[in-house]
Amino acid sequence: MDIASVAEVRRPECIGRHVCIRGWIRSRRDSKGGFSFLEVNDGSCFGNIQVIADGQLPNYESEVKQLTAGCSVSVEGTVKESGGKGQATEIAATAIVVHGWADPEGYPLQKKQHSFEKLREWAHLRPRTNTFGAMARVRNCITRSIHQFFQEQGFLYVHTPIITASDCEGAGAMFKVTTFDLDRIPKQADSVDYSQDFFDRPAYLTVSGQLNAEIFACALGKVYTFGPTFRAENSNTSRHLSEFWMIEPEMAFFDLNDNMDLAESFLKRIFRDALTQCPDDMQFFQERIDDTAISTLQKVVDSDFVRISYTEALEVMDRSRRTFEFPITWGSDLQSEHERFLTEEEFKAPVIVYDYPRSIKPFYMRVNDDERTVRAMDVLVPKVGEIIGGSQREERLEVLETRMAEQHLDPKGYWWYLDLRRFGTVPHSGFGLGLERVVQFVSGMANIRDVIPFPRAPGLAEF
Ligand code: 4AD
Ligand code: MG
Repeated sequence: MDIASVAEVRRPECIGRHVCIRGWIRSRRDSKGGFSFLEVNDGSCFGNIQVIADGQLPNYESEVKQLTAGCSVSVEGTVKESGGKGQATEIAATAIVVHGWADPEGYPLQKKQHSFEKLREWAHLRPRTNTFGAMARVRNCITRSIHQFFQEQGFLYVHTPIITASDCEGAGAMFKVTTFDLDRIPKQADSVDYSQDFFDRPAYLTVSGQLNAEIFACALGKVYTFGPTFRAENSNTSRHLSEFWMIEPEMAFFDLNDNMDLAESFLKRIFRDALTQCPDDMQFFQERIDDTAISTLQKVVDSDFVRISYTEALEVMDRSRRTFEFPITWGSDLQSEHERFLTEEEFKAPVIVYDYPRSIKPFYMRVNDDERTVRAMDVLVPKVGEIIGGSQREERLEVLETRMAEQHLDPKGYWWYLDLRRFGTVPHSGFGLGLERVVQFVSGMANIRDVIPFPRAPGLAEF
């Protein structure tokens, strides 16, 4: 028997083939003519395949007519041209096997629409809905594009550790990793005796693979990481997760402008691939989630990103005479409302803001000649705000040491990072892209918890 996916049998080329498809029932409709229509989905594409189940099937009365949403089946039959609207093909079943029933009294995913909040409580079933099937396929497409983009350009994929002893972002929002019995933590004097802990020192889940990626970039040129990262900040927003996936390219001999060029062509490539490789899923997002989903992406692909310094961005906001909930003064960080003003209202395009005040950015960013700003860059996009954060790195040993002292970091813990500046230091740059922010931007989903299979956020770790 020729096992086929629903995606395959939906194509007209498949007409005439005898196949077996396997999946889950979306709906059943009985015809007065003594046969039934089944809609079957197997996740291989957005659409279902319509199955015509003839009354002559041996299990027609006993099983086929009992099928409800969520039941799992195998269907053997011949692919025929369909007379129905919106589909090229259908299957005339010669045999239907029911693998698992789904009691309609208990199965939550009935025809009616459920809120995304409700669906989060059923994270084990939501992949069977149109929205989460589309999300999973688009997320997969984006992941593939990311690897292809870097591989085609000669980047090496480097696997950086998940357990680390260093706080890359210096924000202190890290989850501790320990094997201590929390009721009996070993102490020396009044403080915790980490020499008795598993790693002999305080250890954490990483917030970023950057520092390790820099090691490889300073030997192999162009590298990238793609892995899970963890942040313990207690922020319950629609754009923050406690566990998210980050892509971090790091390039030797790249300055900030090279870094911006790479970020721009990288994002455009991802968006273009989503549009061309997932047209049905994108169409669905456009119809049901955000009616500008496709046009927004297309506009970004066709646009030049605006590049503007932090200082200029503040001047633009000042001149606009717009009132913000949190008015901004030079030296404070952009809030989400400022980011969205710049990208959605003022420029109506992605905006790269660069050269931020040194006091609000991490120790590793290169200090500019003005001594007040660092070579940081954030890429802002409509609806989501910051999608990429990056910088040119400080490659001068003395300046880096000064910056670490400024931010109260103990150089002893970073001796290996400083060694990169002692031995064959080079200008280098990189950035981090949050995968979920990309999926959010592409799909138009309002909440980041709905673009990752199993979201982790404060108070949320079920499934
Ligand atoms: O701006 P961030 O904190 O930069 C870094 O971690 C650098 N070490 C990256 C680098 O230069 N290699 O984070 C980078 C991106 C953000 O722009 C955002 O897209 C995403 O990661 N991000 C989050 N996504 C979801 N939930 C969170 N809590 C996030 N924090 C950051
Ligand atoms: Mg950032």
